[in-house]
Formats: sequence, structure tokens, C-alpha cells
Amino acid sequence: MSNGIKYLLGAIVGGALVFMYPMLQNDGGGQQAVVKTAEISYPRVPDSDYKLPSFSSRDGFVPVVGRHGMVSARESIATEIGADILRKGGNAIDAAAAVGFAMAVTYPQAGNIGGGGFMVVHLAKENKDIAIDYREMSAGAARHDLYVEDGKVNQTLAKYSRKSSGVPGTVAGLALAVQKYGTMSLADVIAPAYKLAHEGFPVYTQLEVSLARSKERLGADPAASKVFYKADGSNYRTGEILKQEDLAVSLKAIMDEGTSAFYTGSIAEKIAADMAANDGIITMEDMAAYKVYEREPVRGTYKGYDIVTMPPPSSGGVHMIEMMNMLENDDLKAKGHNSAAVLHLYIEAMRQAYADRSLYAGDPAFFDIPVAALIDKKYAAEMRARIPMDRARDSSEVAPTKDLPYESPQTTHYSVMDSEGNAVSNTYTLNFGFGNGIMATGTGILLNNELDDFDALPYEPDENGNISGKANAQEPHKRPRSSMTPTIVLKDGVPFLITGSPGGGTIINTVFQTVMNVLEFDMNVAAASSKARINHQWMPDMTTIESGVSQDTLDILKAMGHKFNAGERTLGSTNSIIYEDGYYYGAADPRSMDALTIGIN
Ligand code: GLY
Repeated sequence: MSNGIKYLLGAIVGGALVFMYPMLQNDGGGQQAVVKTAEISYPRVPDSDYKLPSFSSRDGFVPVVGRHGMVSARESIATEIGADILRKGGNAIDAAAAVGFAMAVTYPQAGNIGGGGFMVVHLAKENKDIAIDYREMSAGAARHDLYVEDGKVNQTLAKYSRKSSGVPGTVAGLALAVQKYGTMSLADVIAPAYKLAHEGFPVYTQLEVSLARSKERLGADPAASKVFYKADGSNYRTGEILKQEDLAVSLKAIMDEGTSAFYTGSIAEKIAADMAANDGIITMEDMAAYKVYEREPVRGTYKGYDIVTMPPPSSGGVHMIEMMNMLENDDLKAKGHNSAAVLHLYIEAMRQAYADRSLYAGDPAFFDIPVAALIDKKYAAEMRARIPMDRARDSSEVAPTKDLPYESPQTTHYSVMDSEGNAVSNTYTLNFGFGNGIMATGTGILLNNELDDFDALPYEPDENGNISGKANAQEPHKRPRSSMTPTIVLKDGVPFLITGSPGGGTIINTVFQTVMNVLEFDMNVAAASSKARINHQWMPDMTTIESGVSQDTLDILKAMGHKFNAGERTLGSTNSIIYEDGYYYGAADPRSMDALTIGIN
């Protein structure tokens, strides 16, 4: 008996199922239709079918287990806040919004209200999936050559000036989520963050290290320097209390006045004044013009599972599904996890997906992105047929050579699921760690440098009509391409895996491998989060491999013509949850210090 049928029978036995009917889900992308069921009550396993939690502890990786919900996030104080909300009866959306606001205080490396991101939500009762796009938006005065001086990109302007900042989307995004799909007020989900900013919190090891490492940049900005270093200029040590009074005032204004405080009120005024005084270009009109979008998630299927993930302007979902489609008909499991044959296929699928991404990823309001074609299974089969099994291709065989912009690995992801079956997968960022390192005067808010994700020098069409860069050239009120890939995998219409990662351009590959580790290689969520990862982005034609892949495997791949980056590097930092047989299994990536997963029991 399939799990789905078993759960439904269980729900009927428990008298909890109100009404159900089969529904044909049109995925809009030429994918196979998926039968879902409408209203399903939780907990999903009745007492008559009670089982002890089960997972394989092979490889020594063991997940956190919860019975009534779970929060997994990159920073532990914020994780506790999310868990506390679930324990008190808030839903996953309440908890996710509270974690997002709390990390703006406790994880200033990437948590933010001065940046933006993407949230994928599964609503259990409505059996509905939503993608919330709260990506930053460029100012009205933005131009494709905003950072170009003497024909070259001025990297300081593009990365470390106020001109690198887009209008932040986080406040609008988290507010929309909680006001439309939560059970608590916006003020109540911000309250813990306000308290942390006002009363302070003990600095933890990773924050001490990050602040010490970023001192040159943060120390150069008077407002950021005042907040993040002591009056005598020395560093905060682990355990010392860090207070952020200006940020507390900003959070209180949003609690009292709602999002209007941020987009048209006192905070907008301070940001616009700070921009005007410092050669920035965001105005009050730009702040007021910000829009958060609820989008239809991009959907795929893999061996019977439904993949629900982020559509453009993130490139993440489309190209992850493209890679999964390419490999769906290979028996990867038989070839062996991280074997040379599997890694060869991964690299070649990545090569194709990232080549396509360079041409077709951007803001859908400005550029017609062929999403349906890119996630079409027939297209994937054609692309798979082009992969030779005995040699690496040169990237020039796959698409024309172009230099691609650097994408910062600093972002953060968290996953939440509640006892009702609602799930949230959220990735948000300031782009670089601490954004551009500039704090808008009087706000306590670090500004993003997300506009560096635009292609600063858009290319003209080449002789083949390829338009690399055009889709992602900066224009007024446009959103830059992202790689963020917050993802929910459904099994029989129920959230099965919730995952996502930071990592700039590498995010798509990290999430892809995490999902494949679970769906293809049957790993528990902790093992799936821990295994060595690889990254190839078409250009440059080099693969990064984490330690943990054997020398024999690397030798085989090298003999096939694959080229590897030298040196040690870690890829990504996932926070993931698996829901199975009524249990929540979670794992924070072992690559990250101070990350935490809490199961609600
Ligand atoms: N700034 C990283 C991303 O959006 O993918």
C-alpha cells in the first residue's frame, strides 16, 4: 500500500478527513500530470498505525527527529525563536517570518531586512504551493552601464557603493507571508527580533569570526562600525552582548505602522536621505514602488516525486529541474553515489544547465524566459543524449564562451514545517556577507549589494544570435537574476523534503545534489546534507570538488578530460527537513558553525 493511501485511510479511521477528491495538477511545463488530494488532516499517522521513527544511520549521520514540527536554520537563537512559535501554536509561516526577522538581528552576515529573497510555501489545508518573490529591485535611475567607467566595470561601485543596493524586499515578503498565510500579527512575529536588537544577544563564535574578518569593510562605514565594534574600536568576543538600538527602532516602527514604515514612512525617508547624501540613487519614489510578487512555483517531477521550487527571477528552480530531468532515466543508484560515472553525468548536466542559464535567466517582467522549454522532459532527453559517457565535453561544445560575473556565496536558507503539514522553504540574502558593508544612516539596517548580480556589461548578440547578458542587464525597477533555490519536494501531495542553501551561483548544484541524495540514493536527511559536493558552472570550465571524493574517482574523471579547481573549498550550507511516516527528520549542514535544527515534540 502506498504511503499516500495509507495516510488517507488512517485519516478516515481517525475521523479527521473532512473531504477529499482527486485533482489533476497541471504543471504548465509539459510534465506528467500528478494526482493530488485536497484537504488532509494532521497528524498524518493514526495511533493504529503508530511506528517508531525509522531512518538509516549508515555513514554515521543521524538526523534530528521531531513529532510535531521542525525548524532548521543557520543561526541557533533565531532557530529557537521559530521553534518557540511552533510550540505555542503558530504555524510554519508565522515561525518562518519570525526566524527571518530574528536573523536580521542575530545573523547580520546574511539575515536581513535590507536585502531580499524567495520563499516557497506549501499550505496543507488548501493543498496549495506558493512562491513569494521578494527579490530586491533596482532604482528608477538605474541603467545597464551604471558601473561602467572608461569601458570597464568599476568593481567598487558595483559591489561596495550605495549604487550596488536594490530596494529591499524582505519586509514586504515576510509581511505578505505572515499577513496572508500566518495566524499571528506582523507585530507579534517581529517582537522577538525587536527584543534581541534592543536588549542584545550574546555574540557566538561564527559571528565573532565573521565580524573580525570583515572589519576593514564594516569598519570603514561609520554607522556599521559603531554597531559592530566597541567604542574603543576593539572586536566583540564570543559571549559578549551585542545591542543594535537603531535596528530596534526600525523594527519597532514596522511593528507599530506595518510595512508602510519601511516603504513610505520613517525608514524610507532615512534610506532615501542616506542615498541622497552619499551618491546613492534610491529615492522615496523607488521605495514606494517596491512590489512583492506571489508567483506560481516552477514544477517538475522526478521518479514519482513532485518538485516545487522557485521560478524566475531566480534561475535556481528552472535549472535544477532541467538537470534532474536530464538524469531521471539513468540508474544512478546502480552506478554508485559519487562514483566517477555519476559525477561525470552531474558535471555534464551542470555544464548544459549553466550554459542555458547564461542566456535565459533574468527578470520575467523584462525578458521572455522559455521556462516551459527548459524544464521540458523531451528537451532534457535531447540534452542527455548529447552527453558522451567516455569523455568530458569542452564547454565551448555546449555554448559560446563568455565571462560570467562573480556571484557571492553569502546567503542563508532555513526550512520550517508545522504539525498541520504547512511547510516553508526560505532563502534570503544581502548578497555579500554583510551586503555592501554600508548601514543606512540612522536605521541600523545593512544595505544589500544585490545589483552586482546583474550582468554589468551586457553583451551584444553574437554571430549566432545568442544574447548572453541581455536577459540580466540592469534596467530601472528590474530584479537581478538569482540562483536561490528554496525547494519543497512532495510525495503523494504531501511535503517530503524541504531544502535550500546559500552559495551564490553554486546554490543550484548544492540543492540538486541534496535532493538527488535523498530521492535517488535513499539517504536520510543528515547523510544527504553531509556528503561531498561538486560544482561546475559551464564557465570557467572547471569543477570544484569538496574533500571526500576518492583519489581513484578523481583520476578516472581526469583521464576523461575533466578539469578541477585546486585547493580546499566547501560548497553550500543546507538546512533541510524530511517528513515521513508522521515524523520530522532534520539536519543543519555540518559545514556550518552555530546552525541548529529543532524538532518539536
Ligand atoms: N546573490 C546571490 C543570489 O541571488 O543567488
